[in-house]
Amino acid sequence: MQPIFLIGFMGSGKSTLGRALATATGYQFIDLDSYIEVRYHSNIRDIFASRGEDGFRDIERRMLHEVSDFEDVIVACGGGTPCFFDNMDRMNAHGLTVMLTATHETLLRRLLAGRRRRPLIASMDDARLGAFIEESIGRRMPFYSKASHFFPSDRLESRQQIAETVADFISRFIPQCADNHPTTDPTQ
Ligand code: S3P
Repeated sequence: MQPIFLIGFMGSGKSTLGRALATATGYQFIDLDSYIEVRYHSNIRDIFASRGEDGFRDIERRMLHEVSDFEDVIVACGGGTPCFFDNMDRMNAHGLTVMLTATHETLLRRLLAGRRRRPLIASMDDARLGAFIEESIGRRMPFYSKASHFFPSDRLESRQQIAETVADFISRFIPQCADNHPTTDPTQ
């Protein structure tokens, strides 16, 4: 299978959904930020601090090119990955791109909880973060809208919701795996 690239704004659930999809399908999960961190022996915050955003985007592009040659992988991109260089064209040429859409309220709630490890928003107060989400999505939409598919990702808040969202995603985009995973969380 060609790679499936999950794209979307920070907090849209790319990593949560990607990891759960990999467990359900047996494909390998790659979180692009984690892949960069392992390869560069550094975390994203430190890479931004030492090389600036331009340096980070350059690394991100190179690592994206590398993983886009892999087979049988589900790749959770960073929120900005589609918006630089030829990244979106590269993903569309090498695999299936799925843009995760979540409401403003969902993004804000998730990002308020996960602000600290994201350098672009780490120092923002709550009001500024709300405005930043609006502005950034507006600016990024021309890139995000090049995705070949769109998928709502608000329902990832409990194990049951994740299981149902995974089942929905698989039936739409990876139907060859639809028979070998449960549609509800077996632990519930
Ligand atoms: C970024 C999103 C982050 C990470 C970096 C920049 C962005 O990934 O790549 O902090 O520009 O939106 P997540 O979307 O996984 O938070």
